[in-house]
Amino acid sequence: MRSPRARFVFAARLTSARRGLSWSHAVKFKGLAREKPEKRIAGVTRRSRLVAGNWKMHGSRATNGELLDALLAGLPGKTGVEVALCPPYPYLQQVSERLAGTPIAWGAQNLSEHDQGAYTGEVSAAMLKELGCRYVIVGHSERRQLYGESDAQVAAKFAAAQAAGLTPIACVGETLEQREAGKTEEVVARQLRAILNKADFGAGVLAYEPVWAIGTGRNATPEQAQAVHALLRRQLSPGVRILYGGSVKAQNAAAIFAMPDVDGGLIGGASLAAKEFIEIVRSAQ
Ligand code: PGA
Repeated sequence: MRSPRARFVFAARLTSARRGLSWSHAVKFKGLAREKPEKRIAGVTRRSRLVAGNWKMHGSRATNGELLDALLAGLPGKTGVEVALCPPYPYLQQVSERLAGTPIAWGAQNLSEHDQGAYTGEVSAAMLKELGCRYVIVGHSERRQLYGESDAQVAAKFAAAQAAGLTPIACVGETLEQREAGKTEEVVARQLRAILNKADFGAGVLAYEPVWAIGTGRNATPEQAQAVHALLRRQLSPGVRILYGGSVKAQNAAAIFAMPDVDGGLIGGASLAAKEFIEIVRSAQ
């Protein structure tokens, strides 16, 4: 059974195909507002690329300062690739001060689904917005696995981020056990559907991160990534950026980014080493 949202997407795509209109025109035609993360040139959707660094729980004021200096010195001026850094909460102020006025954006690794209230230890979307965040990661597999975040909670976080004007980077991905049981498609479709049932994906970003590839040094092959990206793409408007994440390194990035449905990467370990991260950004050009 298709969800109401999936049915709408399907119907609107059909309408747009029949009328010879682009998807964004079709959405406008339906009277819905939508941001445009893509450009259409001669009928081809060109999505801008994004490489986001997920620092996880690493860093200190001193090492962050060195990393930021090295990135600012080493990243090519005009790459055509959007770059974002997601440090731990306490360093957002430091990162925002250093990156203000530069082409590098910043974001957080998580947020609360609630606006405000008695939620000890939580951080709201509005607080992140005040710190100048453009992005926020939601539903990272470490949040799902270690902190028990459910599909519904991830969807609520996605909606809270969007309501505050942040761009959520929503993560989906299967475990090794699920892949070996042939359940990859079912798992990622379920995780995405939970979000689409709750929110319009809008200008949100999706990240396919196979759990077995995160921090293991075992990346998905470009073909494995492409296969999952292509099926996720079918659930979304053509302008939505889908990043790959999981053991992306300077040495494998170019082959992964060469896949037609891979629009950049969500980089963990390799985003902590300036030289490595700069090479990865270059590979996305
Ligand atoms: P990794 O992490 O690049 O260290 O595998 C990716 C992620 O968790 O986003």
